[in-house]
Amino acid sequence: MSKPVILTIFGTRPEAIKMAPLVKAIENTQDLVSKVCVTAQHRQMLDQVLEIFNINPDYDLNIMKEGQTLSGITNLVLDGVEKVLKELKPDMVLVHGDTTTTFAAALASFYCKIPVGHVEAGLRTFDKYFPFPEEMNRKLTGCIADIHFSPTRNNFNNLVREGVNPENIYITGNTAIDALKSTVSDNYEFENEFLRKVDFRNKRVITVTAHRRENLGQPLKNICHALKEIVRKYEGDVEIVYPVHLNPQVQGPVREILGEVPGVHLIDPVQVLDMHNLLSRSYLVLTDSGGLQEEAPSLGKPVLVLRNETERPEAVEAGTVKVVGTEKENIIEEASRLLEDENEYRRMAHSVNPYGDGHASERIVGAVRYWFGLTDKKPEPFI
Ligand code: UD1
Ligand code: UDP
Repeated sequence: MSKPVILTIFGTRPEAIKMAPLVKAIENTQDLVSKVCVTAQHRQMLDQVLEIFNINPDYDLNIMKEGQTLSGITNLVLDGVEKVLKELKPDMVLVHGDTTTTFAAALASFYCKIPVGHVEAGLRTFDKYFPFPEEMNRKLTGCIADIHFSPTRNNFNNLVREGVNPENIYITGNTAIDALKSTVSDNYEFENEFLRKVDFRNKRVITVTAHRRENLGQPLKNICHALKEIVRKYEGDVEIVYPVHLNPQVQGPVREILGEVPGVHLIDPVQVLDMHNLLSRSYLVLTDSGGLQEEAPSLGKPVLVLRNETERPEAVEAGTVKVVGTEKENIIEEASRLLEDENEYRRMAHSVNPYGDGHASERIVGAVRYWFGLTDKKPEPFI
């Protein structure tokens, strides 16, 4: 029998960061052939990741446009992926998470009757519009997928409740934690020139990111006004480092409100090694990102989530993450508590790893090999 060809498809920064360890693991598996297709739903932010992990895609659909719409992305991915599938005829497609690339690539694979494996499966808020469109993207991908890789038992339970056969779900941990194993070190030297100059010893650094579609407009403006107030209140003690997402609808208001504020440093998106080491040297993280909610707890950093809900309740239950919404006064109050109350800070700043142990990719490869009859042993669950 010829070796099964596994096509990994992704398009945005977080998918690339979390698929990179898996791509490497498939490449290192003797009885599988690894192929990679990027949609480039993100261009610059994707290329930063491909370069760091030394991944040279076999196919690049290069679809990104300024002001792209959800339907526009869906159409281009559907068409582009179908062409790749017809040419390559892979034995399985792997997609990740909840972006529009994820859903459209899974749908194209279904149309070509190619089995789909869904990495980071089973995360849910149970609210169709929060986060938008991610909750529906991941649900629809879950309907299409033949094999599901859930980071946690809670994610597994969500899928079982939706009627997915437990035999086809593997609890693997999150591949985000696989990547962290190799990126953070005490003597790391930043590539970004600004980060090299930050005085992490004498200042308390708050790292901020915000980009979610449902936060665009007033919620993002509220977040920016809260940040302005926080640096003013703790002048000389607290500095904010904010790598700003390249979406013009993020860049515009963030630069307008925070561009000239002393103590707030707006920088371009940084490559992932810089980002992980920035997190590990920060005092506190404020974000609406999904990935940062997984990475920061494992580095022992408290996270205030700038959203009204989360599909990642595990670290909230463990006490290192708190959902604080997007109202200005509430953000200031919650951040102030962590800056002033040492007990509260200590209570949140302990390292927990509910999302993985660094071996998720191995388990996913094990499950894929089991699917193709290359081993008769299923991988042991993460928890
Ligand atoms: C996308 C995903 C979201 C994910 C996020 C991670 C969808 C619908 N959204 O949202 O789930 O959390 O990525 O960051 O799949 N841009 C650039 N260069 C880049 C990347 C983006 O210029 O490298 C600009 C472009 O103008 C683009 C815009 O940002 O049109 C928005 O990108 P898009 O992928 O549509 O939305 P995100 O908010 O990034
Ligand atoms: N990240 C990065 N550089 C940055 C900001 C974030 O490498 O300037 C990383 C971060 O560590 C995490 C991922 O990008 O691994 C999160 O991506 P994003 O916030 O774009 O998407 P989300 O996680 O919300 O889907």
